[in-house]
Amino acid sequence: MVLTFFPKIRSTTPGACVINVGAEPSPGYRLLRVRGRGGFAEVWEAASPAGPVALKFMPSSNTGTTAREVRSIQSFQAFDHPYLVKTNGVWSVPGYIVIDMELAEATLLDLMLVYHNDLGQHIPTPQLCLYMWQVGEGLDFLNARRHTRDGRRVGFQHGDVKPNNVLLFGDVAKLTDYGLATPTHGPATPCPRHGTREYAPPEVFQGYLSDTSDQYSLAVTYHVLRTGVFPFPPPPAGDMPKSYLRPPADLSALLPAEQTVLARALSAVPQDRFGSCQEMIRGLLKAHGLKMSRSDDGVWRPVPDDETVPDPPSSKTMREIANRSNSRPR
Ligand SMILES: Nc1ncnc2c1ncn2[C@@H]1O[C@H](COP(=O)(O)OP(=O)(O)O)[C@@H](O)[C@H]1O
Ligand SMILES: [Mg+2]
Repeated sequence: MVLTFFPKIRSTTPGACVINVGAEPSPGYRLLRVRGRGGFAEVWEAASPAGPVALKFMPSSNTGTTAREVRSIQSFQAFDHPYLVKTNGVWSVPGYIVIDMELAEATLLDLMLVYHNDLGQHIPTPQLCLYMWQVGEGLDFLNARRHTRDGRRVGFQHGDVKPNNVLLFGDVAKLTDYGLATPTHGPATPCPRHGTREYAPPEVFQGYLSDTSDQYSLAVTYHVLRTGVFPFPPPPAGDMPKSYLRPPADLSALLPAEQTVLARALSAVPQDRFGSCQEMIRGLLKAHGLKMSRSDDGVWRPVPDDETVPDPPSSKTMREIANRSNSRPR
């Protein structure tokens, strides 16, 4: 939905596949409309033999690299988790890698903007906590060293957790783009590239991923969705010096009990964070006087936790918070 800021993303490879409304980039797939553009890819709604799907087109010119990327993304297809977006297939066409995935209604960023622009408020806290809980489940599954890659036990750090990588399917939020995740064998894994820098943990600027890197980005994501702003000023543009230190987070827009939870999840030292994303989310639920409960229909929902008394709502208005100097999220 957030299209206007990004130009079309087209492959420069001679003879590259045409991407237009009505085009059939692969047999049986017809492009219907653009659903979004990021820095490196364009996502289309398409008709397919299996019904409506999302097709992500990533320009790719080098055949060797393309084959490697396709194999790497294909290896994630086997993942079957209720809070990870399902990948139906990955292949290459001239000039692009194509990923066929579940078609979402919107991203969490879209939802936040609808609430801000149309209703002048943030996403209601119980709804936000539900989405965070679901994404936390997906991340804990991904992060745990329970997967096998090249005969070794590995975990995966997603590396780009942010509101527009969380897709909405009714009341269910699912994490997407984990196909580019990094396998981790131990507490520090070299990572040459970083995801969206506003959400990246400090260790990534130093060139490595920890077991809690995604938790840090989830905490930034929560702050953005809850307040409309980042907890710290954006890192400088251009190449990041390894010596870059993030200024301390300003969490004053949150309730005191939430601040305690987020301060821990945003610790500069990875080992000082929570043991899992779920632990962090339980803390946030508690800060709002909520807990997760499974109803008779088997669905998990946040419900009032009679044993915790939440802090009174902050006296800051949304406008006061939005006027802070920290930049608005993209
Ligand atoms: N499975 C999907 N269903 C519907 N829309 C999607 C899907 N995946 C991505 N999008 C849309 O396409 C946009 C671009 O996605 P992407 O290339 O991953 O970039 P980014 O995650 O940086 O926004 C997303 O912001 C979202 O609006
Ligand atoms: Mg994405």
